[in-house]
Amino acid sequence: MTTDAPQHTVDHLFHLLISQGDADYIGEKVSQLQHCLQAAHLAQSAGSDEETILAALLHDIGQFLPEDAAEAMMTEQGSVGRQGHEQLGATYLAELGFSRKVCDLVGAHVVAKRYLTAIDKSYYDGLSDASRMSLRFQGGPFTSPEVEDFERDPIFPAKVALRKWDDQAKVVGLVVPEVDAYRPMALRHLLLQSS
Ligand SMILES: [Fe+2]
Repeated sequence: MTTDAPQHTVDHLFHLLISQGDADYIGEKVSQLQHCLQAAHLAQSAGSDEETILAALLHDIGQFLPEDAAEAMMTEQGSVGRQGHEQLGATYLAELGFSRKVCDLVGAHVVAKRYLTAIDKSYYDGLSDASRMSLRFQGGPFTSPEVEDFERDPIFPAKVALRKWDDQAKVVGLVVPEVDAYRPMALRHLLLQSS
C-alpha cells in the first residue's frame, strides 16, 4: 500500500468503514459503524487532538478487514497464528500512512482494558457481559509489573481514555455525526504524515 495518495487512501478506508460497518457488533446492540462513530464523537467532545479522534474512529478497523486481506497482511509480516484485531488494525493503519500515535492508540485498546481491570474494580464491574467474556481470552487483568510498564508510556492517558470511550460507545439510537464528518480530518492527517 503506498502512502503517496492520501485522498485515495481516505476514499478506500471510508468505503471499508461504510461497507463493512453494518455488521453486528458481537454481543452488543449497535452496529460496528455506529460503535466507531460514537467512540469518535466521545473523543471529539472531550477536546482530544485529531490523532486521538481518528484513533477512536478507527480503533476497530481490524474487525472490518476482509479475511483475505487480514491473512495476506499477517503473511507479509511473517507472523504466525492469529493476531488480535487491535494489532491487525494498527499494522493496517501504519501501512496506510497513519502516525505512530494513531497506530499505538489503536493497537492498545485491548491492553488498556487489561490495565483498567487491574487498577479499578469498579471498571471491571461496569463492563458488559460480552466485554468481560472477551477479557478472559485477552489475557485477563494486568499484573503489577505490567501496570507499571504501561504507565511508563507517555501516551497511556490517551490509551485509557480511548478504552473508556470504546466501552461507552454502545448506546442504541444515539445520533452522532456521520462518518463523512471525519474525512477532512483523516485527509489532513495523512497529508501531514506524507509531507
Ligand atoms: Fe471497540
